[in-house]
Amino acid sequence: QTEISRVRNLNRIQMGDAEIEPWYFSPYPVEFSDEDMVYICEFCLEYFGEEKPFHRHRSKCTLLHPPGNEIYRDDYVSFFEIDGRRQRTWCRNLCLLSKLFLDHKTLYYDVDPFLFYCMCTRDEHGCHLVGYFSKEKESAEGYNVACILTLPQYQRKGFGKLLIAFSYELSKREGKLGSPEKPLSDLGLLGYRAFWQETIVDLLMEPGRTDANVEELGTLTAMTTNDVLHTLQNLNMLRYSKNQHVIVLTDAIIEQRERQKEKEKIKGKKSIDSERLMWKPPV
Ligand code: COA
Ligand code: NA
Repeated sequence: QTEISRVRNLNRIQMGDAEIEPWYFSPYPVEFSDEDMVYICEFCLEYFGEEKPFHRHRSKCTLLHPPGNEIYRDDYVSFFEIDGRRQRTWCRNLCLLSKLFLDHKTLYYDVDPFLFYCMCTRDEHGCHLVGYFSKEKESAEGYNVACILTLPQYQRKGFGKLLIAFSYELSKREGKLGSPEKPLSDLGLLGYRAFWQETIVDLLMEPGRTDANVEELGTLTAMTTNDVLHTLQNLNMLRYSKNQHVIVLTDAIIEQRERQKEKEKIKGKKSIDSERLMWKPPV
């Protein structure tokens, strides 16, 4: 628990086509701190301090996608559901890897209570991990995400929003409202705020939806009332009149969203198609 033990310990990692500089400490075996490069198998997530054993491993490793069921597929991405109890080693490796980019979450070994939703892009070589979120099998607090990560080589391309959107699709299927585990990191908060704002403003801009109230917005999005309220407050869209919240969709907000949508069109923004989700809540 000393300060020293929290200092970034890996110099560089190689994973698939990417070379990445870790951000934070992660409890890989101590001897890996001396390596210039740690080689991570992009499919099984095993790690190697030397190139030779890594290549030997790569020639034997048969895994081509995360070890679980593919529960979603569209032209762009696939999602796999992995049970921490059934795939303990793989999930521990995933947690070790993601800790390199997470400051405060401390789950590495007790993966049994979690499901891991892993998003991949596909090509002729296999399904390449882009990001994931973990989710408690049972969350007393109603959290629908524990940890969430887009691997750094894929960040700022809209994948985070896809992960978040997917987490809310699962909550809708469960008939529950959900919210991510607190505290969120700075980047986590930025990602969620952006998603919440777009989701709510888009809903309110739909024809016939202008007089929706906070509860309706929650039900439609699977967002908690609290998150809806805070989002509306941040957008300065909440008025209080006759002891009631009134949602006001301002021209400024509409214009801002229209401009954003133009950019999204150019970039080819992706979304989650709920009809492609082949999933029932685990019993
Ligand atoms: N600076 C400013 N805004 C940022 C940002 C950054 N570095 N990264 C994300 N955002 C905001 C932007 O509003 C962005 O939308 P825009 O690109 O249209 O402006 C929005 O978040 C979503 O971006 P997106 O590309 O969909 O997210 P991402 O794939 O980069 O993933 C995280 C977002 C949070 C998953 C990613 O930053 C991450 O993995 N961080 C490290 C792990 C972490 O902190 N997880 C949360 C733990 S609680
Ligand atoms: Na080395």
